[in-house]
Amino acid sequence: MGVKQSRKKRIENFFGNSSQSKSPNVEGNKEIKNEKEPGSQEKSKVSRIVKKNNNSKEIVVSVENIKKNFIVGENNIEVLKGIDVQIKKGDFAMLVGPSGCGKSTLLHIIYGLESPTEGKVRIYGDDIWSHSKNWRADFRNSSVGFIPQQAFWLKSLSVLENVAIPAVIGGKKFHEGLEKAAEMLELVGMANWAHHRPYDLSGGQQQRVALARSLLLNPWLIIADEPIGNLDQKSGTELMDLIQDLNKNFKLTILMVTHNQEQFKYANKVIKVVDGVIV
Ligand SMILES: Nc1ncnc2c1ncn2[C@@H]1O[C@H](COP(=O)(O)OP(=O)(O)OP(=O)(O)O)[C@@H](O)[C@H]1O
Ligand SMILES: [Mg+2]
Repeated sequence: MGVKQSRKKRIENFFGNSSQSKSPNVEGNKEIKNEKEPGSQEKSKVSRIVKKNNNSKEIVVSVENIKKNFIVGENNIEVLKGIDVQIKKGDFAMLVGPSGCGKSTLLHIIYGLESPTEGKVRIYGDDIWSHSKNWRADFRNSSVGFIPQQAFWLKSLSVLENVAIPAVIGGKKFHEGLEKAAEMLELVGMANWAHHRPYDLSGGQQQRVALARSLLLNPWLIIADEPIGNLDQKSGTELMDLIQDLNKNFKLTILMVTHNQEQFKYANKVIKVVDGVIV
């Protein structure tokens, strides 16, 4: 069995069917979270949701006329001036544009972290900014995996414990979180580093661990803000290949910022932002 195949098998073991099924509806996610265990009697419910959401052309993220202004001192700075974007299930979308054009701001608005000045972000048709803060916190933790440009870690915890954090936040038992974290580290080829301190790892290794952490709660969407911006070519390619595997084999939807045109080959959709609008 080749490395790719065994990785695929490990992803399958972890994700089962549900990577293709998960809707970001919070109550729905809670149901699914409890159903993922193999042999669970709740399995029939999962199948129903899979069926309902099994349309690969389905629009999962719809950004509608998003505007964002920042007030800095007495200045009102218009960063996003009316962005419309649609991302379909299984898309690998790349967001590009000059530094300062608002890419990270747009990612944060879609992720439910930064509120828009105007406009809507619909996830599976549901306007995330019409919900409560707690709803969005749950959405971020359980539906979306976020990989920042520079990973941040709790220094006093091991790699394994850091990866387990989303499970703890999501109300799972710590030991369950650790078990899943170990599986995810295995998946990204970082199992041997589980008991190291994260800041002792190289940049590329840290980004692999960040990918493991982003996958912990079985998200259906990965948002990555220039995840390989600081990596050497080899580490960058390895990480991109891993993300591509997840996208191709399991239809995980990917939204990624990049500055590097060489990475466009991974994407089926390139979204270009210039002067606050899509061009
Ligand atoms: N919280 C904030 N308060 C004030 N201005 C902000 C804030 N966040 C971002 N900005 C401004 O908004 C603009 C867009 O920032 P953003 O980080 O989204 O750009 P970017 O496209 O991600 O850039 P880069 O490619 O360098 O990462 C910048 O001018 C930035 O200074
Ligand atoms: Mg940025």
